[in-house]
Amino acid sequence: MLGEAFYNTFKGDYDIRASDIDVNESWLTELDVRNYDAIRQDALKFKPEFIINLAAYTDLEFCENNPDETFLTNTNGAENGARISEEMGSTYVFISTAGIFDGNKDIYNDHDIPSPLSVYGKSKYRAELSIKDICTKYFIFRAGWMMGGGQKDKKFVHKIIKQLIEGKKELYVVNDLKGSPTYTYDFAENTKEMIATKFYGLYNMTCEGGPSRYEVAAEMLKIFDLQNRIELIEVKSDHFSQEYFAPRPESEVLDNLKLKTINLDNMRAWDLSLKEYLEKDWAQIVKEKVS
Ligand SMILES: NC(=O)c1ccc[n+]([C@@H]2O[C@H](COP(=O)([O-])OP(=O)(O)OC[C@H]3O[C@@H](n4cnc5c(N)ncnc54)[C@H](OP(=O)(O)O)[C@@H]3O)[C@@H](O)[C@H]2O)c1
Repeated sequence: MLGEAFYNTFKGDYDIRASDIDVNESWLTELDVRNYDAIRQDALKFKPEFIINLAAYTDLEFCENNPDETFLTNTNGAENGARISEEMGSTYVFISTAGIFDGNKDIYNDHDIPSPLSVYGKSKYRAELSIKDICTKYFIFRAGWMMGGGQKDKKFVHKIIKQLIEGKKELYVVNDLKGSPTYTYDFAENTKEMIATKFYGLYNMTCEGGPSRYEVAAEMLKIFDLQNRIELIEVKSDHFSQEYFAPRPESEVLDNLKLKTINLDNMRAWDLSLKEYLEKDWAQIVKEKVS
């Protein structure tokens, strides 16, 4: 999801070597972040000024069922990049998550102490700690509920769109989980601006606001002009406890306190960014497919 936005946002101004474990774009080469030697060889040839690690297992249920594989990719993989970055004098950029908090607080700023509930959250938090130990020059940016990626969108927004396209007229949506949606293109732009500075460190970086899943779905229907044709039914998260069994914090709402302090918080309000994303990637498809 984020890779596509990063590639498009950076390609005009930087020489990029973009890789993934699954090569499904012409601009990608194959690399596995678990393979220290392969990444090191690649980096030694390319001599990057920045190494940006977007690779992770991001499916919380997969992570819950496969903790060893999750830590190997999300933590050891992140450490591999950090060590290589340090050896080469590069700046390391790592993407963390609001899922490192336990959700007992309403809103988390950059200074709150993480206490992850899920295997995914733990793997990302361990990676944060390692990067701080290994790297001299690093940025860690914490994203919230990711939205973006069009056909590669794996997350909540796409799950709602999929149901609309399948012809569902009633959608069950949880109202007891809230978070800060984070548009991939806003995130990539803000990353680009930040890495041009020397303000290294850890930052919350989400769109502004903290809606519930239900409020995001309601906003989507409004943007698609389907609010009078599709019924949203509010449920508690235990309604989906079989399907989504990984523990999720009640609140994943972040405040970009540090970015605001240095006047580099360009993240927009979540509903504005959602509108831009849906109009760019989905409105036409939904219009054609939803009768
Ligand atoms: N999605 C969210 O809601 C969210 C929220 C906060 C932070 N983040 C973080 O943002 C970053 C980007 O995630 P995303 O949202 O763009 O999700 P994504 O689309 O799942 O991107 C992660 C990518 O990493 C790849 N990958 C998995 N294992 C790899 C390996 N061993 N070596 C190289 N690549 C590997 C995945 O390939 P496959 O698809 O083939 O597995 C996928 O293309 C991640 O660090 C994630 O933890 C995501």
